[in-house]
Amino acid sequence: MKTVICPGSFDPVTKGHMDIIERASKLFDKVIVAVLNNASKHPCFTIEERIGLLRETTGHLSNVEISTFDGLLVDFAKLRGASAVVKGLRAVTDFEYEFQMSMINKKLCPEIETIFLNTSQEYMYLSSSVVKQIARAGGDISMFVPEEIRDKIVDRLLNM
Ligand code: PNS
Repeated sequence: MKTVICPGSFDPVTKGHMDIIERASKLFDKVIVAVLNNASKHPCFTIEERIGLLRETTGHLSNVEISTFDGLLVDFAKLRGASAVVKGLRAVTDFEYEFQMSMINKKLCPEIETIFLNTSQEYMYLSSSVVKQIARAGGDISMFVPEEIRDKIVDRLLNM
């Protein structure tokens, strides 16, 4: 049984995240989506809100579980019996940071692999920050977030 972790801030989950989670769920037996609970990152959405949005958008994926962690990702991965961390890689901008993280994680815990999935072309440019910017400015985020959570994201960002 191959278990992998899809970690992130998910502030909020976007179609880009869903692309990676759905593809990982086809490749592995179990996918644990791990939401970083770290107040120093000052997320817009609370940990409960981020988990709730992810539960709503992944309900159709029977082998996907939503969880949360703080501290080191590799410790969480070991605790949950995962053999790898799966991350989406957008255009060149992500590479340096993700490469550094994967090397550090390998040093901290050599038995946990990092697997990169190239983000699908239509989501190469997408990020949670861009979604927040557009929604706060009254723009349409339908193209960027799953339909079932669009209104919740907009309401929340316009009422901050
Ligand atoms: O969606 P993000 O913000 O790019 O996700 C980043 C995340 C959560 C994967 C990363 O910040 C992380 O793994 N944080 C946990 C702390 C850790 O293990 N750091 C690695 C060693 S420096």
